[in-house]
This record gives sequence, C-alpha cells and structure tokens, in this order.
Amino acid sequence: MALDATDGEVAESGALAGKALRALEPCPTGPLVIAGAEGPPSGIRLSLVIPTFNESRNVTALIERLEGLLEPVLGDAYELIVVDDDSPDRTWELALSASSTRPRVRVIRRRGEKGLSTAVIRGWQAARGEVLAVMDADLQHPPDVNVALFREMEKGADLAAASRHVEGGGVSDWSLMRRVLSRGAQLLGLIILPGVLGRLTDPMSGFFMVRRTAMAGVELSPIGYKILVEVVARARIHWIGEVGYVFREREEGESKVTSRIYLQYLKHLLRLRWDTLPNSRLFRFCVVGGTGVIVDMAILYLLSDPSMLGFPLTRSKLVAAETAMIGNFLLNDAWTFRDLAKKAPGPAAKFRRFLGFQLICTIGLGLNVLLLNVLFNFAALNRYWANGIAIALVTLWNYGLNRTLNWTPLVTKRPPESVRRP
Ligand code: GDD
Ligand code: MN
Repeated sequence: MALDATDGEVAESGALAGKALRALEPCPTGPLVIAGAEGPPSGIRLSLVIPTFNESRNVTALIERLEGLLEPVLGDAYELIVVDDDSPDRTWELALSASSTRPRVRVIRRRGEKGLSTAVIRGWQAARGEVLAVMDADLQHPPDVNVALFREMEKGADLAAASRHVEGGGVSDWSLMRRVLSRGAQLLGLIILPGVLGRLTDPMSGFFMVRRTAMAGVELSPIGYKILVEVVARARIHWIGEVGYVFREREEGESKVTSRIYLQYLKHLLRLRWDTLPNSRLFRFCVVGGTGVIVDMAILYLLSDPSMLGFPLTRSKLVAAETAMIGNFLLNDAWTFRDLAKKAPGPAAKFRRFLGFQLICTIGLGLNVLLLNVLFNFAALNRYWANGIAIALVTLWNYGLNRTLNWTPLVTKRPPESVRRP
C-alpha cells in the first residue's frame, strides 16, 4: 500500500491561521485491500471512518458527539478517521482543526480519487482497529447507535449493520418517491444478487461495522455508494448482527445522491454478479456450452443454410455438433472441471474423459436431433428456435451425467496403499 505525498500539510486559509494544526494523514493508494492485523497490537479496538464531501456544517458536531459517546465505552481504544474528498467547503480543514485537541481524530484529505465507497476503504486501509466501521457525516445516522453496533461485534459478529427495517428501525418523513426508490433498489439487488442482499434486512444501509479479520487480504472494488453490499459479497462474513435505527432527515447540507448513483448501483450489482459467479460449476458448464452453441450455429448456418452451402440439415447438424463438442470438451476439461481433471492427469486419462464426454454428449445429440425434428416438423417451430430449445434441455442432461459419471473421483487412479492418507 503506497502513501500520498502530502504528509505534514497544514491549513492554508486565514480562518484557521495561527492555530497549531495536526498533520493530515497520508492517503493510502494502490489496490483496495485491507491488511490483516500486522505488527504489535495497536490497542485500538474500533476505527470509525466518516466519509465527507461538503459537510462543513456537520463534521465538527458529529466528532464531538462521537467522542462523548465512545469515550465511556472504549476509553481511548478507538479512533475516528475523516476521509474528505477535497471538499470545496474545506470540510477537511474543519475536521483537522477539531483533531488538534482530539488525539483520536485523524483526517485524510483525498485528492485524485472520488466516491463514497472507495473513500471508506481508504480510511479502513489507514485504520489500526480490530473493528472497522463507517457512518455518514450528516447526522442522519444517529451516533449513539454505534454503541449498540459495537456490542453486536463484542458478541462475536463478523458484521453488525444498522437497519431501518428491523424492530426499532424506520425513516423519518420520507416522501413516497424516496421509499419506492429505496425499496426498488433493494428489490433489484435481491433479483440480481439474492445470496448477498438476502442476508440483510437493509442492504442499502451506509452504517455498519465489520471485523478486520473477515476482510483482510480481500480485494474490494465497489462502484458508488453501496459499500455494505460489496463487503458482504466479497468478505468472509458468516455472522451478521443487525440493530434498528431511524434514518433522520438531513438538517445541514445536501445529499450527494444523484441518478448517477443509481446507475452506479446497477453496474456494481452486475459486476458483483459476474465476479462471484465463477465458482459455480454449472455456470461454467453453461458458459462453455454457450460457446459451443455459437460454433454449432455458425457451422449449421455455413453448411445447411440455403443461402450458403445448402447441405442436408441432419448431416450438417452432425458436423456442427461434433466440432462444438470437441471444443466444449477441451474448455470443460481446462476450466469447468479443472480441479477434478487434475486428479487424473495424463493424456490417457484425458482421452478416457473425452470418450466419456463424447458418449454422453452423443446420446445427448441424439436427443437433440430428435427434439429438433419434433419441434421443427411437428410443432412447426422455426429451425433456430427449435435448435436452441433442444440444446438448452440437453445441456442439463450433459452436465448431470458428465459431472457424476465422467469427471468424478471414481475415474481417478486411487493412490497406492503406502501414500493413502489416513
Ligand atoms: N469522501 C466522500 N466522497 N464522501 C462522500 C462522497 C464522496 O464522493 N459522496 C458522499 N459522501 C459522504 C457524505 O458527505 C455523507 O457523509 C455520506 O457520504 C452520505 O452521503 P449522502 O449524500 O448524505 O447520502 P444519503 O443520505 O442520500 O444516503 C445515505 O443513506 C442511505 C440510506 O442508509 C448513504 O449512506 C447511503 O449509502 C444509504 O443507502
Ligand atoms: Mn445523508
């Protein structure tokens, strides 16, 4: 993790001139990875990151409130880290001034990088605590809820989130439009990433705490606002605790949420969907199958389409399918079933798997041709629709049999008695 070269920068404007200010903290750069607990324990139990952009009218009051709340609970085993994206209203300078008499307050003035989620991660990268937290700076998140969240972490939770949708939770006077937008965003997330958003009652919350060890070494790459979704999707989060809170109206300053934030949210969901999919074998099998469909269709078109070579349909189909099958086998052996193929190395075993694949898929091809002709000749479906449906149904057959019969450990050579582990 590299550091930005603005060490020791102090306030420039006259307003704070002459006041002994602490140095700005260097802003971490490089990959968005949180380090594990390195070196001697810092004694810091909670690092609370406050991302700010144009929050000059809120930041000082929030810092004072937090200090009053956390001191009795944590003594000096906590730190507040303000990460300001070089706000035009110089929020960073006000925070820096507040930190001059508060050793537990650290301020990062980030330049050249923007966005709420990445600001939070940069703060966590600079943090020293076992528990990494985030809350908004505009007092819409009630500061006292931090104590309840920390209690959840002390019980052993990997992540504790403040939620508007559990007992004691809610929003103050939100317009119907805002409620629909918020719930709509949640629903969209549940459709695209059910396994992630389904674990939280308020996945849109920007107020939560997470254990450093659950995130250490994981590369994060959020887009926009939804840092909680990013953390739950990528980190090692098993136990989630939730605390109800009422999301208040903002009194000072403006919300930075624009329509762009909603677009970023959709992009973020789709990126997470893709990034978290590779480990499903069926998905990989279908991706490979998809490439086979393209090869199959292209050759079927070249060979049988009247405007091309116009060869007979079935013979063209046989050539198209065989070519696609060889390609699919090579891709499946190298990607989909890579871990299983490794257990039976060598060309002989590979060839045996190819024969198995060929047999299973040829039976599948038979089924496919049967279905294609039934759908084309009897259901009067267009030849390409008929082919597509036939391929989809046969894909499940091919996957099931290949997974259980062809790439199973059963075909692996059993290690001789002497090296077999107990
Ligand atoms: N550093 C930095 N950079 N901070 C930012 C940026 C940025 O680009 N954009 C916003 N912030 C800070 C704001 O200054 C504020 O402290 C916090 O992030 C939240 O921004 P708001 O603009 O006030 O968001 P909101 O109130 O509309 O939405 C909040 O509540 C929602 C409901 O819980 C956010 O927390 C959303 O994530 C959350 O879904
Ligand atoms: Mn807000």
